[in-house]
Amino acid sequence: MPDTISSTLPSALLKWYDAHARALPWRNPPGEPAPNDAAWPYRVWLSEVMLQQTTVAAVKPYFEKFTSRWANVDALAAASDDEIMAAWAGLGYYSRARNLAKCAREVASRGGFPQTEAELRELPGLGAYTAAAIAAIAFGERATVVDANVERVVSRLFNIEEPLPSSRKTIRASAETITPNSRAGDFAQAMMDLGSSLCTSKAPKCLLCPLSKHCAGLKAGAPERLPVKPAKKAKPERIGTAFWIEQDGKVWLITRQGTGMLGGMRALPDDGWTARDDGSGKEPIDADWEALGAVRHTFTHAHLTLSVQRGVITGQPSGDGTWWPISDIDDAGLPTLFAKAARLALASD
Ligand code: ADE
Ligand code: SF4
Repeated sequence: MPDTISSTLPSALLKWYDAHARALPWRNPPGEPAPNDAAWPYRVWLSEVMLQQTTVAAVKPYFEKFTSRWANVDALAAASDDEIMAAWAGLGYYSRARNLAKCAREVASRGGFPQTEAELRELPGLGAYTAAAIAAIAFGERATVVDANVERVVSRLFNIEEPLPSSRKTIRASAETITPNSRAGDFAQAMMDLGSSLCTSKAPKCLLCPLSKHCAGLKAGAPERLPVKPAKKAKPERIGTAFWIEQDGKVWLITRQGTGMLGGMRALPDDGWTARDDGSGKEPIDADWEALGAVRHTFTHAHLTLSVQRGVITGQPSGDGTWWPISDIDDAGLPTLFAKAARLALASD
């Protein structure tokens, strides 16, 4: 441990958290034990799954929607994959929703969440981060919770110069040395709050920071350089075409297969996004196609420009699908990419 990190660091952070913790719908107030309510671990689990890769602001309305519709893990376990996927639409990273459904069923069949990090880790689709977060936040276990915010704060506190991702081992080991025996859940959430409010990527507000006198990165002069990240690869550009197929006030929707990109989600039929041109020749059915324009969407690994073609038909497209009333399109649970395409089609009427 660098000599600037002292044993008073955890209490300094917890004291700051007592005064500055964000009030969030899945959080109990600082210093209080988790409520003795069977639905509490469920709420913690659900929020932590939603918060991976997604901001607090984006998660809040989804958390409210899920918990008012499915108040506990048994209720969620009884929902169909389709219902869960549709409710998740717009939140992104849809493999999380598939894993959520699987995990809910396993937990319901066991009669509730296991309470230790090690047992939580064995649940299907539940990773190291989520296991540590639930163990600490819902059950008060001393577990070390490391998300991107915590990685940044710890890299700075310990002045870890080694670049990500190889520094993860050192970051975890360092975080482990400052995790307190009690209030581990508050401590984890305090680190997250510090990372999102003061110890921000650019221009950290070290003058306001409760840990400034413990911070080796600040002492070394330029904490904003940390963590050192590998150069970003340019995202490839992909091009595709989606088809808005209409008949009698209804649009033809399919369910995307498999566990790949948007697997399990309802969607417009498309050409597989492999086209280098406007997708012509890959139309799913003969129609008098009208080009409506294009929408842009950015995924983790690529940018996509999706042209949208509209066709009014009389027959039935081949393959599985359903005719969805256009006036109810908001309830179809389309992921954001296809919701954008639908807006284009609706605007062209
Ligand atoms: N990000 C991930 N988990 C969080 C939590 N419990 N509170 C705030 N931000 C978070
Ligand atoms: Fe982050 Fe600055 Fe606080 Fe160090 S002193 S933890 S760099 S905000």
